[in-house]
Amino acid sequence: MYRITFSPDKKICDISPALYGIFFEDINRAGDGGLYAEMLINRAFDDGVIPQGCTYHSKRRTITSPTGWESSFPCAETEGIYGWSALGNARMTLTDQNTLNRARKRALKVCFHGGAVVNHGFGGISVTAGGTYRFYLFAVSEKPVEITVSLQSATGKIYAQQSLTVEGDYTRYDCLLKSDSDENEAVLALHSDSEDTITIGFTSLFPTDTFHNRENGLRRDLAERLTALHPAFLRFPGGCVVEGFSKETAYRFEDTIGPVWERRPHWLLWGYNATGGLGFHEFLQFCEDAGIDAMYVFNCGMTCQARCPDYFDAELLEKMYQDAVHAILYASAPADTEWGGKRAANGHPEPFKCLKYLEIGNENYGEEYCRRYRYFYDRLKAQFPQYTYIATDHVEKNGLPVETVDDHYYSDPAFFAANHEMYSGFDRDGADIYVGEYAATIGCKNGTLYGALGEAAFLTGIEKVQDRVKMTSYAPLFNNPAYTAWEPDLIIFNNHASYGIPSYYMLEMFAKNRGSYVCGQQVMTDYDRRCGHGVFRYTFRGESVIAGSAEKNCQYFSHEADIRNGQLKVSFWDTCAQGEDQDHYDFVCEGGRSAVTHYIGWSREIICEGKCELSGDLAQVEIHTDRDEFEIKVNGVQIHKAVLKPLPHISAVCTVDGATGKRIVKIVNITEKEIRTELVSDRPIPDRGFMTTLTAGSLQAGNSFEDPQAVVPVSREVELTGGAVIVPARSVNILTFPA
Ligand code: AHR
Repeated sequence: MYRITFSPDKKICDISPALYGIFFEDINRAGDGGLYAEMLINRAFDDGVIPQGCTYHSKRRTITSPTGWESSFPCAETEGIYGWSALGNARMTLTDQNTLNRARKRALKVCFHGGAVVNHGFGGISVTAGGTYRFYLFAVSEKPVEITVSLQSATGKIYAQQSLTVEGDYTRYDCLLKSDSDENEAVLALHSDSEDTITIGFTSLFPTDTFHNRENGLRRDLAERLTALHPAFLRFPGGCVVEGFSKETAYRFEDTIGPVWERRPHWLLWGYNATGGLGFHEFLQFCEDAGIDAMYVFNCGMTCQARCPDYFDAELLEKMYQDAVHAILYASAPADTEWGGKRAANGHPEPFKCLKYLEIGNENYGEEYCRRYRYFYDRLKAQFPQYTYIATDHVEKNGLPVETVDDHYYSDPAFFAANHEMYSGFDRDGADIYVGEYAATIGCKNGTLYGALGEAAFLTGIEKVQDRVKMTSYAPLFNNPAYTAWEPDLIIFNNHASYGIPSYYMLEMFAKNRGSYVCGQQVMTDYDRRCGHGVFRYTFRGESVIAGSAEKNCQYFSHEADIRNGQLKVSFWDTCAQGEDQDHYDFVCEGGRSAVTHYIGWSREIICEGKCELSGDLAQVEIHTDRDEFEIKVNGVQIHKAVLKPLPHISAVCTVDGATGKRIVKIVNITEKEIRTELVSDRPIPDRGFMTTLTAGSLQAGNSFEDPQAVVPVSREVELTGGAVIVPARSVNILTFPA
C-alpha cells in the first residue's frame, strides 16, 4: 500500500531558506584550471617544492609530514619542471635565486637559442575561435630579449601570437591573445631567437570571458553550473584543506589575498599545489555576484585528525585565531581601517555583506576540539555577534554553547534511504543542524542514479524537519577526471566541458521547488528489508576467545576484550575493507552500557543501545540475525533485540506555497517497479498535475562527457484521476498542483 496523506492547511514549520547550499573545496583540481579560470599549470614554478617540514621519498613519489602522514607528491622538481617543457635548443632550469618576491620560492631561467618553452595547461589549453586571452609574465633580463608568445597546437600550428621585449629588473609584461581557431589541446609557447638568458618569475593566462567578466575570475560555464543549483550559500574553502596535514599546510586566509603573484602557494592534502588565486576575496566576490551567502571555514589550531594530527601550541593557536579575525575584518570592516583598507585596495571598498556563517574547524572532534572551539567561539562571538557560528562536533554534549553543528555522511544509497528519518526524533529545541557534507559514495563512484535516489530519499526526511536541520551541502563539488582524488563529485569537468551527475539534477530539482511551509503529512509505503546474515556465538574469558563458531556469512570477526573490567568490543560481519569502503558491525559493551553500531563508508548507524553489565571473567556472546533482525544475548540473557531500519520503496515530503496555495510533493521511488501512489488530502485534489521526473533505465545509469544529458529531469502533465499518481520506477519526482 502506497499512500501520501497531507493536510495543506496544517502548517508544521516554515521552510528553511538556507536548506540547499553548496560546498567548494579545492580537491580533484577544482580550483586552478577548474572553477578558477587560470589556464597555466604551475604558473609560478613552485609546484615541485617539497612542503616545509616534509620529507620526500623519490621511489614512492610521496612526502611524509613531521607527524608521520604520508601522501602522494607526483611533481617533485627532481623529476622535471612540472607542466613545462623546452622545445628545440631552448634550455630551462629552476632557480631559488632572484625570485620575484618572498612568496615565490622559484623562478624559471630560460635561454631560448631559437627554441621555446611550453606550458601544457591542465590537460591542454582550450581556446575557441574569436576567444581572447590575457597573458602576462614577470621577467628580468640584463639585455633586451624579444619573445613571441603564442597559443599553438602541439605540432606548432599558431592560433594566436604577440611579441614583447623583456629588459631590466622584474617587470610585468602583458598581452592579449585572440585565437583564430577552436582547439582543446593547445599549449602556450614562449619563443625567442636570443642567445641571452632571462628569468621568469610568474606567468598567467586567463580567458577574458569569465563569470561576471572579472579579471582573475571564475570559469563562466562552471560558475553558471553552480548558480543553476539555486544555492542559498557557499561553504569555503574546505574540507580537509582547511586543516592541512602539517602546520605549514594548514589554510591561512592571509596567504590568499592581494596581488596573486604575491600569494604564497598552498600544498593541498589532495596531492597538488594551489596558487591561492581563488582566495578569500574571490570567494566573497563570487557569493556577492551570485547573490548568495558566504560560509567561511577556518582552521582552529590543529591539523586533520584523520592524518596523524598536530595540535598547535599556544602561540600558533593564537596566530590561527588572529588569521580568522583578520579574515572577518577583511570582509566586514570599513575601508578606512587596516583590513577594510586591504579589501578596498583589492577593489571592493564596501564591506562584503554576504558573509553570514563562520565554521570553527572542519571534522574536528573530541577534547582537543572542545578546548579550541571554546577558545575561538567565546571571543569571536563577543567581537562579532552578527554571524552564525558552526561547530564540527556535538560540543553541546560537553556543556559548551552551540548554535549549529555540522554533521557529515558518506555511505551507500541504502544507508541514506533507510535513514531518511534520522533527524525526525530530534529535540526541536536543540542546536541547529547543518549537514555540511554528504554523498552516496559506496558503489556510486561515477555518480549514479541510485546514488541520487538514496540522497533524495534522505532529503525528503530532512525537509520535514527543516526547522531543525536548516542547511545541507553535497560534497565534493568538482572533479577533473585527469586528477581524481575523490569520487563521486557533483560536477565533472575538463578544460572545456562539464556535466552534472544525477545527484546534481536531483539537487537542482529540490532547491528550485521549495514552497513556503511544510504541511501535515504521512507517507505509507512498503519496505524492503536489508541484508541477512546468520548466527554468531563466541565465548570470551578475560582477554581471549575460548570457544566459538560462526555460520553463514560470519567468517570474519575481531575483538578487544577485558571482561573482568566490563569491557568488550566485537566487530562482526566485517568485510575487511578499510576507510571509505568499510562495512562492519560493532557490538561494544563498556561502563554498564552497550550498543550495536553499523559502520558503512564514513558513516555509522546505531542499531540498538541499552544496558549491559559484564561480571566475572566469562562472557558468552550470541549474535543472531534473521535478515534484518538482531538479537544479542550475553551469558544467555537477551541484551538487545532490534530491527535494521528497512528501505522504504517510496519516500516523500509535501510543502505548500503560502502565497499561491500550490502544493509541492517530492516523491522518490527507489524500487525497480512503477508504483501507483494514492494522494489523500483534506482538500480537493485536481485531476491533473505537473510532474518533473529524474529517471533512467537502470540504477547504475549516469551522465558522461559523451552523453551529458543521459539522466536529466523531464517535465510533463500527469493525471491524478482517482487521487493517485503513477510514480515511475527508479525516480525522483516533483509533483505540483494548484490549490
Ligand atoms: O569532501 C571530501 C572530504 O571529506 C572533505 O575534505 C572532508 O571534510 C571530508 O572528510
